[in-house]
Amino acid sequence: MNDLELYREQITLCDEKIIEDLTERNSIFERMLEYKEEHGMLILQPMQREKRLKRLEEKLEGNPYKEEILDVFQCIAWNGKRVQGKKLFPQNLILIGFMGTGKTTLARYLGERFAMDVVEMDVEIETQTGMSIEEIFSEYGEERFRQLETELLKQLQTREHVVISCGGGIVLREENIEELKKQGKVVLLTASPEEILNRVREDKRRPLLEGKKNKEWISQMLEEREDKYKKAADVIVNTDKKEILQICEEMIRKLEEI
Ligand code: S3P
Repeated sequence: MNDLELYREQITLCDEKIIEDLTERNSIFERMLEYKEEHGMLILQPMQREKRLKRLEEKLEGNPYKEEILDVFQCIAWNGKRVQGKKLFPQNLILIGFMGTGKTTLARYLGERFAMDVVEMDVEIETQTGMSIEEIFSEYGEERFRQLETELLKQLQTREHVVISCGGGIVLREENIEELKKQGKVVLLTASPEEILNRVREDKRRPLLEGKKNKEWISQMLEEREDKYKKAADVIVNTDKKEILQICEEMIRKLEEI
């Protein structure tokens, strides 16, 4: 064997070691989750990730391949998140709830924390039609928008390991509720009319609230939709005065219980 062949052999051995280590690393994340669940511990412990990154940077100080290795570690970290996400949420997560209940915020958080793809239905509809939600409502009416929602839901049937953040009115059509249930676990986020009003007050992108941003109107709409939301939901999480970590943690617990 000449030197070149020897080097190639060494690289193959390195690759094998990396595969073994990565397999071990990913499975540790699964064991860690099981441990936390068994002991009723918090699943989300954001400080740990920061500590790990700091240790890594210290370890790589002076390493000639620091930049390259850190690059790889970004991918490794993403892997770890994804492994945890798949274990915690073997099915897609579908977030429903009235406007201003925090669906978009929670979807973004889950996407980042568990390396899940996020589909924001309103944004997807805007991208596909090249129109804003307000334009669709004003030019074609609510019924057309509802039709677009139903069509998009059907398009999403093949997606896996994804968080779908639905528009607040997705439950208005019975056929949508059936579709949602087929596609994953449905999480209903709720909030009081006061809190909803606070959250949507400055927002101009919700045609059904334009000119009617008051508690009475919001309460009325909530009441009209309540049964439909509940019918669609697998779990319900109230978001009033809660931080995102707490909301997410509560959702995980409730999903575990069902
Ligand atoms: C709607 C909610 C909106 C958007 C549209 C209609 C509704 O989505 O789909 O304005 O009927 O509740 P958000 O809940 O994301 O604001």
